[in-house]
Amino acid sequence: MRRVDRSQRATISITLNGRQVSAEAEPRMLLSDFLRHSLGATGTHVGCEHGVCGCCTVLIDGAAVRSCLTLAVQAEGKAVTTVESLAGADGRLNALQQAFKNNHALQCGFCTPGILMSFTDFLGRNPTPSEAEIVEVLSGHLCRCTGYAGIVAAVLEVSGSKDNAEKRSV
Ligand code: FES
Ligand code: FES
Repeated sequence: MRRVDRSQRATISITLNGRQVSAEAEPRMLLSDFLRHSLGATGTHVGCEHGVCGCCTVLIDGAAVRSCLTLAVQAEGKAVTTVESLAGADGRLNALQQAFKNNHALQCGFCTPGILMSFTDFLGRNPTPSEAEIVEVLSGHLCRCTGYAGIVAAVLEVSGSKDNAEKRSV
């Protein structure tokens, strides 16, 4: 239950990566700022703050959203999943992260958290995408290092896609 005090700050409670957390936020506070500054979840990066670059992408109740276009109050009571959730407690990379590593799919890594979260959502719904479908998802992200080919290769590697099977058989 959200509680609004006299200064209009509200206590926002969310489930962050499986853990119940809460902190105060002003009504206009962005979810990206709430995660980074109020909850210390700095794995979510902020680039354009205009919904263009995609690097702030997180999951809300399993669906990818741009946290710079989402208010913290809109996440009240919901499950928010960020890049910090992907690796195991022992630091072991998950399959998607490992595929990024294998395929040199990151350079400076600034765009990487958002791309990982977009593909976490996408592969959950479409575990065997075509290369064209992967490129379509990736078109919603900007990588200043322009490492797009490696990212496509990583997603092909981790998925059991038809395109990937054909590449493996060559
Ligand atoms: S920081 Fe959110 S889309 Fe660029
Ligand atoms: S790896 Fe540098 S911005 Fe994408």
